[in-house]
Amino acid sequence: MIRIESVTKRYPDGTVAVDRLSLEIPDRAITVLVGPSGCGKTTTLRMINRMVEPTEGSILLDGTDIRQQPVNTLRRSMGYVIQHAGLFQHRTILDNIATVPRLLGTPKKEARARAAELMERVGLDASLAKRYPYQLSGGQQQRVGVARALAADPPVLLMDEPFSAVDPVVRKGLQDELLRIQGELGKTIVFVTHDIDEAIKLGTRVAVLRTGGRLAQFAPPADLLSAPADAFVEDFLGADRGIRRLSFFPSVDLQLQTAPVVGIDADAARLAAVSHAPWLLVTDLDGRPLGWSEPERLTAGAIDRERLLDFGRPFVPGTDSLRTALDGAVLSPTGWAVAVDGEGRAVGVVSQQVIGEAIRAAHSRAANGAYADTDVKAVR
Ligand SMILES: Nc1ncnc2c1ncn2[C@@H]1O[C@H](COP(=O)(O)OP(=O)(O)O)[C@@H](O)[C@H]1O
Ligand SMILES: [Mg+2]
Repeated sequence: MIRIESVTKRYPDGTVAVDRLSLEIPDRAITVLVGPSGCGKTTTLRMINRMVEPTEGSILLDGTDIRQQPVNTLRRSMGYVIQHAGLFQHRTILDNIATVPRLLGTPKKEARARAAELMERVGLDASLAKRYPYQLSGGQQQRVGVARALAADPPVLLMDEPFSAVDPVVRKGLQDELLRIQGELGKTIVFVTHDIDEAIKLGTRVAVLRTGGRLAQFAPPADLLSAPADAFVEDFLGADRGIRRLSFFPSVDLQLQTAPVVGIDADAARLAAVSHAPWLLVTDLDGRPLGWSEPERLTAGAIDRERLLDFGRPFVPGTDSLRTALDGAVLSPTGWAVAVDGEGRAVGVVSQQVIGEAIRAAHSRAANGAYADTDVKAVR
């Protein structure tokens, strides 16, 4: 575990970049430092690997002051990833990734084999191995940066705005990849960003810093959304706080109705049995949703797909959050959301009203500590 104990950094020109910051950074989790530009995020990160020395206070790694070990040993235990990846332009992708193991004396062949393995791990095609950084897209270069940081298998990864320079779609891919890698490798990651959505998505815990390098709040993202410590944090979180919080509530407990789901081959008796329902969801013969209809507009044996209303975006109970379910219901012209299984077959439908009740129930469960586990992550 990394412990930052009352650390202050005052640069020689008098700028106080970090002011009496204390943080306990848990092992094998992603801790995010977020805050506006100039609030001391980079300075804090660089104090952890001693690229910057604190003016006051200390930083402990597994209980020992980091100043008690040689700086090279310390840095070897900490991979470092920066914006624009910082790759060596005159080296191939494979040799970029193999840099640190080669410096540590790993034979070339072995280091390259490990680098090839890492390329796969970060989602890079093997055909890129012999290329040079300028021949790769920004997103691919960031993946190389992550692979290079992982090459010596350090327990800690320090990441300074690694995904800030790529476009939103690529960024989302990189974030998903990082979460997957973290799930597989269980590194201790300290991740710096100025993007609160990125912080909420990636962080097991999020430290919100304010200008002057002071800690405003340190909490799991769901707690930031439900209980911002002050007006600064609330403002920084931005709009839609309540809706975004629904991402942390699972949809698995929603009471689904199956009666209003009818196959396109439904006979007259089946349709008569559900004629009281406000809306029916018609599925194809495999059970995949086709669209909505009022019961009186359906005739057994002659259901016209073209006349059905769009069923919008379905959700997968157990995988998706209440936010996704609510979104499906809000988008649907009927006000009902469609639940599907992993193969896209309808498993039931649920009304906005029932989702609203589930939201209220989730709030009271949260208030009673049901989701207090710090490992609770946003569901899709
Ligand atoms: N080497 C330096 N000398 C003087 N001031 C610095 C130096 N590096 C950063 N600062 C100042 O310290 C503050 C925090 O900077 P930084 O840690 O880079 O913030 P962030 O990464 O959150 O944008 C800023 O006011 C910045 O201008
Ligand atoms: Mg910075």
